[in-house]
Amino acid sequence: MDSHLPSEPRAFLLSPALSANARFTINKKEEQKEKKTSSLFLLFRSRAGPRSEMELTAQQLRGFDGSDASKPIYVAIRGAIYDVSSGKGFYGPGGPYAVFAGREASRALAKMSKSEDDVCGDLDGLSDKELGVLADWENKFQAKYPVVGRLAS
Ligand code: HEM
Repeated sequence: MDSHLPSEPRAFLLSPALSANARFTINKKEEQKEKKTSSLFLLFRSRAGPRSEMELTAQQLRGFDGSDASKPIYVAIRGAIYDVSSGKGFYGPGGPYAVFAGREASRALAKMSKSEDDVCGDLDGLSDKELGVLADWENKFQAKYPVVGRLAS
């Protein structure tokens, strides 16, 4: 009888901590579920949405480099064209990443390079690490910017 006495208050004291922990786990799970849903949505929108019908050649893409303020700014990664107009401060004229505007930027992003020569879609010879960096950029763009079309191959 005596032996189980202390265990009850201890259990009582522990339970709020446990439930806070459980709540944290549930919140985390929901957050992950939300992320999953939104990336599925983006995947759907990029692969099947009506706007993904748009296909631009590399030359046409150049027309969306921010030099005409009345047009959106586009950046392509692995052939998907993102409308990065909301990141005008980054990609607009005079911005630190203006070199990517209106261009396929995959190689440059993979190599963390702003060199004109790297601003292209050629992935030849990139290391696994660089391809990982590119995947991180792709995730960031998918989460932040709408996909509006594909670059014609
Ligand atoms: C000294 C070096 C650098 C510093 C201190 C720096 C810093 C930053 C900061 C503070 C941001 C904003 C991050 C955010 O909004 O979450 C940013 C964004 C960005 N950085 Fe850099 N950066 C550097 C070099 C580079 C290089 C070499 C590249 C070449 C790929 C690069 C590509 C980008 C891109 C593409 C974005 C914009 C992402 C977006 O659209 O939100 N950065 N950088």
